[in-house]
Amino acid sequence: MTALPQTMFATILSHDGYSGEATGPNIENAGDWLAEAELTVPEPGPGQVLVKLRSASVNPSDIHFIKGEYGQARVKGAPAGFEGCGDVVATGQCAEGLMGQRVAFITAGSGAWAEYVLAPAMMCIPLRPEISDEDGAAQIVNPLTAMAMVDIAKGAGDAFVVSAATSQLGKLMCGLGRDLGLKPIALVRRGETVGMLKDHGAAEVLVTTDPDVAQNFAEVSQSLKPRVFLDAVADQLSEQVFCAMPNQARWICYGKLSAELPKLTQMGQLIFMGKQIEGFWLTNWVTSTPPQDQARIVAEVQARFADGRWKTDVSERLALRDLVPNLAEALKKSDGKVIITP
Ligand SMILES: NC(=O)c1ccc[n+]([C@@H]2O[C@H](COP(=O)([O-])OP(=O)(O)OC[C@H]3O[C@@H](n4cnc5c(N)ncnc54)[C@H](OP(=O)(O)O)[C@@H]3O)[C@@H](O)[C@H]2O)c1
Repeated sequence: MTALPQTMFATILSHDGYSGEATGPNIENAGDWLAEAELTVPEPGPGQVLVKLRSASVNPSDIHFIKGEYGQARVKGAPAGFEGCGDVVATGQCAEGLMGQRVAFITAGSGAWAEYVLAPAMMCIPLRPEISDEDGAAQIVNPLTAMAMVDIAKGAGDAFVVSAATSQLGKLMCGLGRDLGLKPIALVRRGETVGMLKDHGAAEVLVTTDPDVAQNFAEVSQSLKPRVFLDAVADQLSEQVFCAMPNQARWICYGKLSAELPKLTQMGQLIFMGKQIEGFWLTNWVTSTPPQDQARIVAEVQARFADGRWKTDVSERLALRDLVPNLAEALKKSDGKVIITP
């Protein structure tokens, strides 16, 4: 085995704690939130592994996090980035079984936008050889969320609504919904993506920038009766969509892509129609779902990527050393993930 270097290149957080704001996963200049650094290569503690990075993804959660508006506090000077794929090159106690394996991982403390990454062994998934490094870099957060949320929709009728449906997660959910015999109703911002969403499995696609979208949705809702709204936008149109859904409908907010704060306009719907507003966070799902169910779902996710039913669309590839100057521009491209390589 080659000896590990003493130091590594990393992209680190420039701020501590929370910002107290919620301006959305957009940045003008990554240098406002991130810096470049040469750090000591971390040592894995008990239950942890050290991963040599192959590729990392940039998710909206990463951008919320670097800006201080995510569900955990920032630590200034720690590498950023939650998710990636790489080779286990050192292990702590009780994690020895992962040594040498290529894994998809979620980080803990020392993030994915660095040459070496610390991850809990529990959050590492050994990858099947057919799965590419790029699919491996986006193998956990979105696919597990898609499986968990479509499972919720499956128990509540034949149709469900997905906002920001051109997102990677939206496309995964439309495809999965179709495969399960459900009718995904996709909401998109850009008219030119309607055909693409239908190819991905959407039964209906509505364009949110269309002035008639509320009326169009009301008609679709009347006919397909969706009772679950999987919403990553959470703006005023989301509230209108929820209000146009039938009784017992659930508005499940799992993202905040829009900075707009919606107002509730029809409280009687909660009282008289049994409607509910709730949240979904994968972190809570992981801690509340039995390990054997998670293992079954992880195997299904890998099978879907291995046989091509799911794939990660990539909009831009950035080398780690080019990340800070180029990330903001790269994020402006739609229809795919920014993938980072060491
Ligand atoms: N709660 C959880 O556990 C959990 C887990 C995973 C992901 N998520 C959330 O799921 C969402 C999607 O994640 P992803 O990784 O799939 O995203 P992604 O692939 O990076 O795509 C995001 C897409 O959303 C659209 N969008 C951006 N701002 C919007 C706005 N204000 N209104 C409507 N659409 C907007 C854009 O598409 P167009 O330019 O085509 O409109 C953009 O390409 C994010 O909000 C993320 O935080 C939550």
